[in-house]
Amino acid sequence: MDVIVLVGTQFGDEGKGKITDILAEDSDYVVRYQGGNNAGHTVCVGESTFKLHLIPSGILYDSCCSVIANGVVLDPAVILQEMETLRNQGITVDPSKLKISSIANVILPVHRKLDSKQESKRHHEKIGTTGKGIGPAYMHKVARTGIRVQDLLKKDLLKKKLLKQNWGEVYGEDEYDLDRVVDEYHGYGLQLEPYMVDSSLFVNNAIDSGKSIIMEGAQGTLLDVDHGTYPYVTSSNPVAGAACVGAGIGPHKIKKVIGVTKAYLTRVGEGPFTTELHDRYGEYLREKGGEFGTTTGRPRRCGWLDLVVLKYAIRVNGITEICLTKLDVLDGLDSIKVCTRYKTVDGELLDEFPLDLEVYSFCEPIYETLPGWKEDISQMTDFSELPESARAYVEYIALHTGVQIKMVSVGTRRRQTIHLITR
Ligand code: GDP
Ligand code: IMO
Ligand code: MG
Repeated sequence: MDVIVLVGTQFGDEGKGKITDILAEDSDYVVRYQGGNNAGHTVCVGESTFKLHLIPSGILYDSCCSVIANGVVLDPAVILQEMETLRNQGITVDPSKLKISSIANVILPVHRKLDSKQESKRHHEKIGTTGKGIGPAYMHKVARTGIRVQDLLKKDLLKKKLLKQNWGEVYGEDEYDLDRVVDEYHGYGLQLEPYMVDSSLFVNNAIDSGKSIIMEGAQGTLLDVDHGTYPYVTSSNPVAGAACVGAGIGPHKIKKVIGVTKAYLTRVGEGPFTTELHDRYGEYLREKGGEFGTTTGRPRRCGWLDLVVLKYAIRVNGITEICLTKLDVLDGLDSIKVCTRYKTVDGELLDEFPLDLEVYSFCEPIYETLPGWKEDISQMTDFSELPESARAYVEYIALHTGVQIKMVSVGTRRRQTIHLITR
């Protein structure tokens, strides 16, 4: 059947977890292809709230198998804890429902230590990382000194590889005990062994036997290490193309690319943000949208929807459909602004996202103002029920980007989702 890639089109936290959860009902597999436990996806089902960092939200269905593919950096203690938490919430997590790539790289204590050391050295140019060791883990991966999940099973090999990481350059003397770390991580390896697979072989076999698969990107396009607002980015590639590398599948196997777009914009951590609001509207969006980080609890910076960013994301991902989330958060506003172009400090008008951070950082947003609506739309289940201004807002986005809107989300629950295809 279909292989769909699902990506965030903004700075992360677009509601990917909720949309994956909706799509997973009709899917056989959900595959995570990059990132690590920097991600935080909140999924609300009935009375339960699930906070997922590593395990794809497909795990909530017994009929769906979740795969953590080779492009992910895996913190073993975190995944074991997440498995436990899910079990305590009544979710089955066993080796038939969860597969972990044996060649995914591992996040170690040294990576978290390095993450915080690097951040503290950045003084006024902090990235505002999640502190989970993501960047340093990818650094070791690319430097070819990383530890892979399968290495945890062989104590001697693990110790030999860890010695090559020169922890003495990170820790002071007596600050670490390598043998203790080897024992601890070998222990994690043994616990994870039943879940380990050749995930590329596993996923390709599933594709060949006609299964439906969602490839789930974490973070968002503007946090992509190549295509995002570098250096204010994460250390992996959330963009759709990376699904092939991060899961070991061929590009021709991908049928659709779904972009998840929040009806406004948020960013957590540092970095430029053209449409950021420092006024009562920003506060309104933060409070009404519950915009506080799932992973770190930090308040998210809020602003108006930026169509320059969205069009850029559509291009670099090859997005074929958009799922628009959190439209209900805009309820009650008299008017809503949408950024359609940027003005540079030299007065130049830009339709395309500028790749020079110096230019982007100082761009002013050029806004269109659209009418708001007063009604509470959170219980509406059909597009035709929405107030005229809400429909106009959705249609404006589709028209401006030339991409169909497949779904509009109006609340955290599964039933608070309107299925439609705009022109
Ligand atoms: P992700 O990282 O992209 O999965 O997004 P997060 O889970 O970090 O943040 C999205 C937040 O918005 C979560 O708390 C969701 O429960 C919530 N959410 C998702 N869709 C909607 C929606 O349509 N309306 C409202 N009000 N909340 C939503
Ligand atoms: P989900 O999947 C929002 C941000 C951090 C920081 C930057 C680098 O929930 O959308 P890192 O720890 O990755 O080195 O931090 O990236 N960041 C996210 N922001 N949502 C996320 O994931 C994020 N993952 C990382 O705040 O600015
Ligand atoms: Mg999130």
